[in-house]
Amino acid sequence: MSDVPEPTRRPEWAALEQHRAQGLPGLRDLFADDPSRAERYVVHVGDLRIDYSKHLVTDETLRLLRELAAATDVFGLRDAMFRGERINTTEDRAVLHTALRAPRDAVVEVDGENVVPAVHAVLDRMADFAGRVRSGEWTGHTGRRIRNVVNIGIGGSDLGPAMAYEALRAYTARDLTFRFVSNVDGADLHEALRDLDPAETLFIVASKTFTTIETVTNATSARAWLLHALGDEKAVARHFVALSTNAEKVSAFGIDTANMFEFWDWVGGRYSYDSAIGLSLMIAIGPDRFREMLDGFRIVDDHFRTAPPEANAPLVMGLLGVWYNNFHDAQSHAVLPYSHYLSKFTAYLQQLDMESNGKSVDRQGRPVSWQTGPVVWGTPGTNGQHAYYQLIHQGTKLIPADLIGFVRPIAELSEGLKTQHDLLMANLLAQGQALAFGKTPDEVRAEGVPEELVPHKTFQGNHPTTTILATELTPSVLGQLVALYEHKVFVQGAIWNIDSFDQWGVELGKVLAERVEPALTEGADVPGLDPSTAALVAAYRERRK
Ligand code: F6P
Repeated sequence: MSDVPEPTRRPEWAALEQHRAQGLPGLRDLFADDPSRAERYVVHVGDLRIDYSKHLVTDETLRLLRELAAATDVFGLRDAMFRGERINTTEDRAVLHTALRAPRDAVVEVDGENVVPAVHAVLDRMADFAGRVRSGEWTGHTGRRIRNVVNIGIGGSDLGPAMAYEALRAYTARDLTFRFVSNVDGADLHEALRDLDPAETLFIVASKTFTTIETVTNATSARAWLLHALGDEKAVARHFVALSTNAEKVSAFGIDTANMFEFWDWVGGRYSYDSAIGLSLMIAIGPDRFREMLDGFRIVDDHFRTAPPEANAPLVMGLLGVWYNNFHDAQSHAVLPYSHYLSKFTAYLQQLDMESNGKSVDRQGRPVSWQTGPVVWGTPGTNGQHAYYQLIHQGTKLIPADLIGFVRPIAELSEGLKTQHDLLMANLLAQGQALAFGKTPDEVRAEGVPEELVPHKTFQGNHPTTTILATELTPSVLGQLVALYEHKVFVQGAIWNIDSFDQWGVELGKVLAERVEPALTEGADVPGLDPSTAALVAAYRERRK
């Protein structure tokens, strides 16, 4: 393994550096030379039309990027992932979120055992349970029906279901209330529970490890809240279910493992909301819609596995990201959905991308001398336009962006509100155009702008965007979008030769927090506190008196 060359030492990397050094025409010239790029630089997958014509690339750039992908064996690693090989080497685990959406008759083996039957057995149990909660057959301890579902989890055990619930709100059972509690700040649980009736509230404790301090702390407080109202330990069995890989810890917490929905160590937390971790979502949208979402994931999985490089959407998106990240010094990547329902989509992608590719040693443990994952950020349009787009348009940084939009608004909107949809989408298209082509000084002058203001009103352009267009935000389309980004992140991790599936970087803070807590609560002397932190501890305790 240690003879794997660093990506930067490959001739394909050097060829891209040379290509970059030659300089590329701007987007105005690229389109003037070849208007057909508007049609040619489009990839389709499922319901997604992905237009990458507004990128600072030519056929030659794309060819060189594909050669880098071939040299770094992106597709070889992809096949190893789908085969269930232990490609998460630092944790010695297979990476098989794709098995979560495999059809019933598929065979995906981990250590010689087909995992697909177990995946479907859990999905069937979830469907049965979700159906009983939705119909009112599953009642609380006092016999009242469940009206509120509170998911307690953090990271992948929160962001996925919370994002997807928000995205698919139009498909949710509107007679049920859903809340997502993640923060160990007691305010989060307080606000979630303050107007709920314990007799009608179901807690879903979502934690792959069932050791995460935030989740265990919040779940313990939630149990105390419930028992304070209902006064009977037996109530826990009707009001708490667990989603986990750790039956022992679930049981130790006091949740009957009959009320546990299982998943497996080959599902990473940030890749898990299509596993049992999606139970709250399944209760919200119903089992059939949940399965439609899984079908959407599968469409993109199949595409990623089989589409040729030129037409492979995750590959193309991953390569474009590498182009800016490694050959243009871009530090960040914006994801800008023009959909209110995707308000949590970018936050979800932050964990997916930054926890996966925020690494500084390669798969062999050598420090990297090349840039790895970008900072991912963004919020829904049009709000961002009135906040930070100024910097994208006229600031000094290159920020590649994805613009995501839908042809139709959701059916539930009134006719009046539906008419606003064209205005929303006009903004998306206008931003893509303005970012790409800008406004020249001559165009500004032609509008009669006084000379001293011309530099201020000039837009440089050449800000690259990908436009992802789908007909409607359905469960399947959401699955397609998430799988698209999952595999894009995979492609980049493969090229950078990093393990995209571990997350050791979150451990140190966790360990230190546990050490610092007694210093805050009891004034305990914590050995090894640095002088700055020790002074902050003292200031905190002084002000708390
Ligand atoms: O932040 C680290 C992490 O392990 C994430 O990868 C994960 O999604 C989150 O914590 C929550 O972990 P768990 O589901 O085990 O509670």
